[in-house]
Amino acid sequence: MRTRKLIAGNWKMNGGLIANVALLKAIHAGLHNPSCDIAVCVPSAFLAQCQTLLASSPIELGAQDLSQHEAGAYTGEISAQMLKEFGVRYVIVGHSERRQYHAESDASVASKVQRALANGITPIVCVGESLAERESGQTDEVVKRQLAAVIHLNGHCISEIVLAYEPIWAIGTGKTASPEQAQAVHAVLRGQLKAASDHAERVRILYGGSMNAANAATLLAQPDIDGGLIGGASLKPQDFLAIIDSAA
Ligand code: PGA
Repeated sequence: MRTRKLIAGNWKMNGGLIANVALLKAIHAGLHNPSCDIAVCVPSAFLAQCQTLLASSPIELGAQDLSQHEAGAYTGEISAQMLKEFGVRYVIVGHSERRQYHAESDASVASKVQRALANGITPIVCVGESLAERESGQTDEVVKRQLAAVIHLNGHCISEIVLAYEPIWAIGTGKTASPEQAQAVHAVLRGQLKAASDHAERVRILYGGSMNAANAATLLAQPDIDGGLIGGASLKPQDFLAIIDSAA
């Protein structure tokens, strides 16, 4: 069974050496025995700094991407092994911004997931439809295709992932999927996971896309919403803390 919800911040390409200290300090100051798991997925340039800042903290360290290759001539890429050395516990894989701006395919996302799992890092696998896809009734088809590629390559290990449903039209736009819209897609994804693994019930399916202090509680109350992947609001300590409280 899913035990604790997961609230993961996705800092995207934000932060700085001074700002990171202030942000993590403010979050720590407001954390009181959190009853959910918490992570921050930081830019790779800050992994070393954040590893130090999060030592002996209940907040776990995450990265935002990794290479599908093990090592070698891949200029600019970061391997799972390297992430491991910095104590990375989670890595976002297949975020829509990577699929869109870096032409990541379903197949490369699946390989990255495999690479993360082989190195003991939990991938947070992102799926989600565009506005055009939603409006033409293709939502289920799109997210199922994206997840199917990951299941195909990873087989029964699929129960080791965290999945994140992030409708592209809701990311950074202030438009959130309604709790009912999100739950409907989460239920589809849950069904697909169950068909692939006997242990799928324990996979946490996060919602992401303009989750904030005001809407988190109702989203997190849905039966198949097991946490959140938080972009903008994770950079504001009070908002991030309020979302953590909503996950209690
Ligand atoms: P947002 O981003 O919360 O700013 O919409 C979520 C994400 O892209 O992971």
